Amino acid sequence: MSLNDVLSLGQHRTWKRICVSWSMAKRGDRVLDLCCGSGDLAFLLSQKVGLDGEVVGVDFSGQQLQTAASRQDQRWKACYKNIKWIEGDALDLPFTDHYFDAVTVGYGLRNVVDKPKAMQEILRVLKPGSRASVLDFNKSSSFFTASLQSWAIDNVVVPLASSYGLTEEYKYLKSSISQYLTGEELEKLATEAGFSSAKHYELGGGLMGNLVATR
Ligand SMILES: C[S@@+](CC[C@H](N)C(=O)[O-])C[C@H]1O[C@@H](n2cnc3c(N)ncnc32)[C@H](O)[C@@H]1O
Repeated sequence: MSLNDVLSLGQHRTWKRICVSWSMAKRGDRVLDLCCGSGDLAFLLSQKVGLDGEVVGVDFSGQQLQTAASRQDQRWKACYKNIKWIEGDALDLPFTDHYFDAVTVGYGLRNVVDKPKAMQEILRVLKPGSRASVLDFNKSSSFFTASLQSWAIDNVVVPLASSYGLTEEYKYLKSSISQYLTGEELEKLATEAGFSSAKHYELGGGLMGNLVATR
């Protein structure tokens, strides 16, 4: 069982499905999974767009992309052949304008240094009328939810991550969430980048959040 399964009691799979579903990706589409890591969302997108469609997973870590590619080799569904992995930076996407029918980002935007630039790049590569769906930890405005999240990170997430030898990777989680944007700030980020509408939804009792922005 993966660490994400243990930490979220399997819920991260549901949140990722929701993120993909809200991107409105459909059969035959060409879609981007940005900050794809080892490819969880790209594999889900692949099932949505089918063999007639195309999925591009982009990450700036070659190592993550190698893991994604080897997972692709081990999987049997024919549609997974429609995924390509490309090394690239969210701040300078290697695609022409209006190239994609949908974009997903899972647990990536929080880690991107220049978030306004990343949103502008996402907007640029999306076709008019299409959507970006951005899943991440929620920086909650509720004192209760923020306290619960902070307690869970200190007492569950970091100790469990340590037992998987991933202390360093999770040590900065709490500070990265506190430096992230609230739902309202994410909506503002998207509209200021030029999206025509943006709505942030809380998931998992407010521990996670998903921004849906329409170009
Ligand atoms: C926490 S992982 C999430 C992976 C995957 N999307 C998931 O939900 O399981 C975040 C990923 O974002 C990538 N990343 C961070 N900043 C990036 C940037 N500027 N351009 C491309 N990838 C970036 C990292 O390399 C990492 O693989």
